[in-house]
Amino acid sequence: MFGLIRLFSFFVIFEGIVAMVSPYQNQTESHHFQAPGEGDVRSPCPFLNVLANHGYVPRSGKNVTIPDIVKGGREGFNVGPNFFRLTGKYGLLTSPNIDSFNLDDLNLRGYIEMDTFLTRPDAFFAPNNTNLPFNETVYQTMASSNPGVDYYNVTSQAQVQDARLNHSIANNPELVNDATSLFARSAASALILSILGDPKTGVAKKSVVDTLMREERMPDGWKRPEDVIDVDTIRPLTQAIMDVSNWPGPNNGTYPGAQQLVIFGGF
Ligand code: HEM
Repeated sequence: MFGLIRLFSFFVIFEGIVAMVSPYQNQTESHHFQAPGEGDVRSPCPFLNVLANHGYVPRSGKNVTIPDIVKGGREGFNVGPNFFRLTGKYGLLTSPNIDSFNLDDLNLRGYIEMDTFLTRPDAFFAPNNTNLPFNETVYQTMASSNPGVDYYNVTSQAQVQDARLNHSIANNPELVNDATSLFARSAASALILSILGDPKTGVAKKSVVDTLMREERMPDGWKRPEDVIDVDTIRPLTQAIMDVSNWPGPNNGTYPGAQQLVIFGGF
């Protein structure tokens, strides 16, 4: 009897030691999902929010550096460093800090925050940062796309982008619709299809995409892409989405905030 108890105690202690030293345990421990708490800040970017919610970048969302993003993007989504050459620099421009930004800084219109995206309303419809959190009404355009099948693809993403743009053309007098935003929207869709689905076919399961976008967490059963996703790998899908979009051309609008470069604010 005592022998059995000793054996049981040994296993309990042994398992405890394994849990403490195993790198796998450490990884799952430190990268579990945790919704933002009081004082934490989040961005208009669903994927950056996921990285913060899983601790791949600071969970507070504050003082995030470019090295944080490069490391977290690679570990969390296997996104390669060249994707951050532009997005990272734009991110810094939204912040008064020298080498970091807070995730909510990124909601500055005209840098990466633009009109007609998939999960947030245009700033015109929700001013003073009320466009920052995920918005189900906006997301319904995407969630109801490609009816009858359980996946999103290049064609459905192009249709969703057209629908979002047409809604803004009809209702947003401050809409900025230029070639840069067409490219940014299409690249964002290509990222979604690549990271959450297949970077070659551009097909992604609705349930996986919807979970990440709505709940800003890594979906159950989803696996980080095996091959690096970066600006080169998403180029074909980005182009394919632009090719099947019915883009009506630019409207010559400009972002009013874009001239107020935060870096010059202290001069
Ligand atoms: C892991 C790498 C990243 C991925 C996969 C990613 C993906 C995306 C996607 C798919 C969207 C579109 C969301 C929507 O349409 O509602 C988006 C939006 C956005 N991303 Fe990221 N992103 C990444 C990193 C970054 C970085 C490094 C920055 C800036 C420092 C950034 C800033 C933004 C902003 C500001 C938006 C909002 C656009 C808007 O709603 O107007 N993202 N991102």
